[in-house]
Amino acid sequence: MKLEQLKKKDSTFVIPTYGERQVAFTRGKGVYLWDTEGKRYLDLLSGLSVNSLGYSHPEIVKVIKAQVSKLIHISNLYYHQSQIRLAEKLVKLSFPGGKCFFCNSGAEANEAAIKLCRKHGLENLNGANEIISFEKSFHGRTLATLSATGQEKIHKGFYPLVPGFKFARLNDIASVKAKLFSKTCGILIEPVQGEGGVYPGDMKFLKSLRALCLEKKILLVFDEVQCGLGRTGYVFAYEHSGIRPDVITLAKSLASGIPMGAIIVSKPYSNILGKGNHASTFGGNPLACMVSLKVLDIISKKSFLANVKSNGRFFKKCLEKLKNRYKIIKEVRGAGLMLGVDVDGNAQLIAREAMAQGVLINAIGDNILRFLPPLIITKQEISKGLEVLERILKKMRDTGDEYI
Ligand SMILES: Cc1ncc(COP(=O)(O)O)c(C=O)c1O
Repeated sequence: MKLEQLKKKDSTFVIPTYGERQVAFTRGKGVYLWDTEGKRYLDLLSGLSVNSLGYSHPEIVKVIKAQVSKLIHISNLYYHQSQIRLAEKLVKLSFPGGKCFFCNSGAEANEAAIKLCRKHGLENLNGANEIISFEKSFHGRTLATLSATGQEKIHKGFYPLVPGFKFARLNDIASVKAKLFSKTCGILIEPVQGEGGVYPGDMKFLKSLRALCLEKKILLVFDEVQCGLGRTGYVFAYEHSGIRPDVITLAKSLASGIPMGAIIVSKPYSNILGKGNHASTFGGNPLACMVSLKVLDIISKKSFLANVKSNGRFFKKCLEKLKNRYKIIKEVRGAGLMLGVDVDGNAQLIAREAMAQGVLINAIGDNILRFLPPLIITKQEISKGLEVLERILKKMRDTGDEYI
């Protein structure tokens, strides 16, 4: 079906939460996608951090093919080996002695973490039930996770929100202390904010949060749904900061596009959620677990992570060079292959023009460009993508941004 036909059918049958889109894809390979017209695109967004291993990764395809012919789903009424193996692997990579719970998405993982914080408050902190989250954060679209999200535009239309969330400012420990009372049971933070505009938590701040949570016995939850699993050049983004949270939430790239979410809970808190407290029908099914095991095998290799670090540094340096040449770029920030650029111009139009020229980048709001390329991207491919961005910036500089 051609794009125009698809748009018409979509607007007739699909609830328009995503609005109209400019392209429809039919297949992908490595860091490239092809649309319905056969045009090729270099992907610097990887399905919003899901396709970290690119498209049609041969090892992932092999695991999926093998598993679908054996067992896709069995329900959590029964054991299956792959879920236990995956939990063991995640725990070994993070918190020895900890435990996991599996679900299907980032919002669901955060829901589980929020419930854990509240039960901890009930059992260990005299019924404390408030969670501190951060301005510009994003934790999902379910009612509790949107209530935990520090962006009013996400709240709008859905009041009353779930009570018990307070918002502090990222990298401002005084603002956290100002929100912290005897009713606080947890702090929920993205170590690198994604949807809010790619804002990394600085190390000193994260260390102070860790100390504060230890002192008050409140849970420190890292939402690594977007920034985890190799994206910063470490398996977990917390490793970047040199501290360990009590809980990590994961999803997105965990099963390379098969819906999958997880929380990892450190030992002291790993039995707070018990029988009957939480469940998910599809959570941790054999297919998702087998794919996740393979994803972890690949991304936890030292050489893979070293490559992400090196390519992340290269990508950032190239963006900084562009900043030196084009006044329209105001700031470059991020960690590993999760990068954001503030532009003094219309980021949405830049992203649309890049797409027209065969490169997928993302615009957040009016003035931020976000880059989340597949982690398998090479320096050559990064350079190719940024050549296109430079062409657009040059034309904007020479002609004024109205041309797009
Ligand atoms: C940091 C973070 N947490 C949670 C979510 C929600 O994940 P999902 O859309 O899988 O529910 C997202 C999605 O973008 C995210 O970036």
